[in-house]
Amino acid sequence: MYLVEFCGERRAPAGLETDADNVVEMVTVAGSHVPVMMSQVLDVLQPHDNGIYVDATFGGGGYARALLEAANCTVVAIDRDPQAIERGKSLLADYPDRLILVEGRFSQMKSLLEPLGIAQVDGVTFDVGVSSFQIDDAARGFSFQMDGPLDMRMEGVTSEGLSAADVVNGLDQKDLAALIYIFGEERQSRAIARAIVEARLEKPLKRTGELAKIISGVVHQKPGRKNLHPATRTFQALRIYVNGELDELAQGLTAAEAILRRGGHIAVVSFHSLEDRIVKRFLRQRCGKTPQGSRHMPQDTGSQNAPSFVEIKHKAQRPGDDEVDANPRARSARLRAAQRTSAAPWPDDAGAMVFPRYSVEGRALS
Ligand SMILES: C[S@@+](CC[C@H](N)C(=O)[O-])C[C@H]1O[C@@H](n2cnc3c(N)ncnc32)[C@H](O)[C@@H]1O
Repeated sequence: MYLVEFCGERRAPAGLETDADNVVEMVTVAGSHVPVMMSQVLDVLQPHDNGIYVDATFGGGGYARALLEAANCTVVAIDRDPQAIERGKSLLADYPDRLILVEGRFSQMKSLLEPLGIAQVDGVTFDVGVSSFQIDDAARGFSFQMDGPLDMRMEGVTSEGLSAADVVNGLDQKDLAALIYIFGEERQSRAIARAIVEARLEKPLKRTGELAKIISGVVHQKPGRKNLHPATRTFQALRIYVNGELDELAQGLTAAEAILRRGGHIAVVSFHSLEDRIVKRFLRQRCGKTPQGSRHMPQDTGSQNAPSFVEIKHKAQRPGDDEVDANPRARSARLRAAQRTSAAPWPDDAGAMVFPRYSVEGRALS
């Protein structure tokens, strides 16, 4: 039933090598979300009076609030999670004339802004992934540390689309292993997939606790090392897949390019190498620094396009030690930023930015 278009090799594609430090441990501050690299993001966006800024990932509203406090500007705050938008109403009460909350996906940024009469903006920021609110709510099914329904849909458990339970119970063993390997960068993916398939023969898996226990039973960890929870990578893989996160990111970046005015800034905070690779590739390409082609990533053909961005810093910025000490979630964060030129947006090539491609019948995903 499921068709997988997979790179076919059982080793990590170039640039996707497993790096335990890149996997976010689920350490959160209960009942809140501590914004990551916020001062660096503000430094990039340089909010000014009368400017219009898009916070593409509103979450707990930390970035949006900081922008609103920094200048007499307007912030359009987008989130696909209805609960985040609902929570944002308290911030809206503080800034009724300058904050606009929009429920939707940032890939649709352009069409979400159209009804507001906004065609161009001065800055766009992304802080991708999940918020502490989402992880800490067992009923959302993102956590392997708290038992809950195996769901993981950012739009909520009643939304359309496959849940994590649909994926673990529906994919055949080979596809499940490929998914866990690619999106979780999990070397023990085959053993995990085998264990899942054996367990679901008895009854379908419905709870995060059940899945975490099955994974913990088969994942070998090196003694004497500070190991991640055995289920970390598999849960990451399922979350990315269920929410189409890599395609969303690639499409969000091209949407930001389309709406940023000349001199406007983009700031993207990402948390693992799969995301950062897309951001890096997009910005390098749009800055006219086409990456070298490779067997896994063919040479770009877009060199005839004038650069639509200029680099602010060549390398990704990382959080300082103080921030990481205070907020362990910041540990794997990377910020990439650029400034928009007056050149036309490049032809929409979001699909080419996501690698490897992986699709399940009826639903193309990154
Ligand atoms: C890490 S949190 C953002 C935290 C925020 N910067 C703050 O300071 O509180 C990420 C948020 O982005 C949202 N999100 C993730 N992917 C999205 C997408 N494609 N479109 C819209 N929102 C998305 C999630 O629902 C989550 O609320």
